[in-house]
Amino acid sequence: MKIFEKIVDLQNELFNVRKERKEIGLVPTMGALHEGHASLVRQSVKENSVTVVSVFLNPTQFNDKSDLERYPRDLEADCKLLEACGADYVLAPSVEEMYPTEDKRQFEFYPQSTVMEGAKRPGHFNGVCQVVSRLFYIVCPDRAYFGEKDWQQIAVVKRLVDYINMDIKIVECPIVRENDGLAMSSRNMLLSSDERQLAPNIYKVLNESKKWIDTLTVQELHDKVMAEINKTEGLEVEYFDIVEGNTLLPVGNWNASHYVVGCITVYCGKTPIRLIDHIKYKG
Ligand code: PAF
Repeated sequence: MKIFEKIVDLQNELFNVRKERKEIGLVPTMGALHEGHASLVRQSVKENSVTVVSVFLNPTQFNDKSDLERYPRDLEADCKLLEACGADYVLAPSVEEMYPTEDKRQFEFYPQSTVMEGAKRPGHFNGVCQVVSRLFYIVCPDRAYFGEKDWQQIAVVKRLVDYINMDIKIVECPIVRENDGLAMSSRNMLLSSDERQLAPNIYKVLNESKKWIDTLTVQELHDKVMAEINKTEGLEVEYFDIVEGNTLLPVGNWNASHYVVGCITVYCGKTPIRLIDHIKYKG
């Protein structure tokens, strides 16, 4: 596995890969890698001749600077994991390397980028689109791998690929959970052991709520999920939206679509740490 800090060095390497007509998979990450990322890399290794993983903590997608400051970083551990998964190249550029000048581009893809995380974290998806489009231009992958944990992000990235007219297949990989159901996330490392005990309640309630769709209306189910999670001291729901799976707009009843998803963001603990998860009710 080769590790590059300079974009041009990776591009020179990929030039030869492309000459041999080999397919390239890209796994964009912000580091602090865990089993969820490992599953994306393994899938890319299976489906492509060459896998590139970017490890770049992208400042432009953090609307909250303290969130950026406490985001875990450990490039050495990340590289060990990536090598074990069979990645070929790691791109780990500095901020100056990735953004030699300020990125002033604005991306807005209504409604996918403006609802839920888009509304609660202004500028977040704009930053994601800035960095993901740069990575796409740099690597020109055949396939790019994203985890379903960030379910809304996948919808936004699909809009981005259409918008920038690149022929890249966005591969959605299943969410990876801890044994107790908590969705794997780099932010889980920031939870204290007490907070870590509380966090699985989020998925426990979401999973349980799948049984309620036959007896409760959308509004009733929404209210019950909120109440059940908020009952746990130390957990506070920021939003729980039940949305149409493609548009991401709220649904009023269960027959509104064949694809209905509940998306939640919960504050956990004193700091607090913001955890996101989702559940597919239909589709
Ligand atoms: O999902 C993430 O880790 C980030 O949003 C991404 C896609 C790597 C862009 O920085």
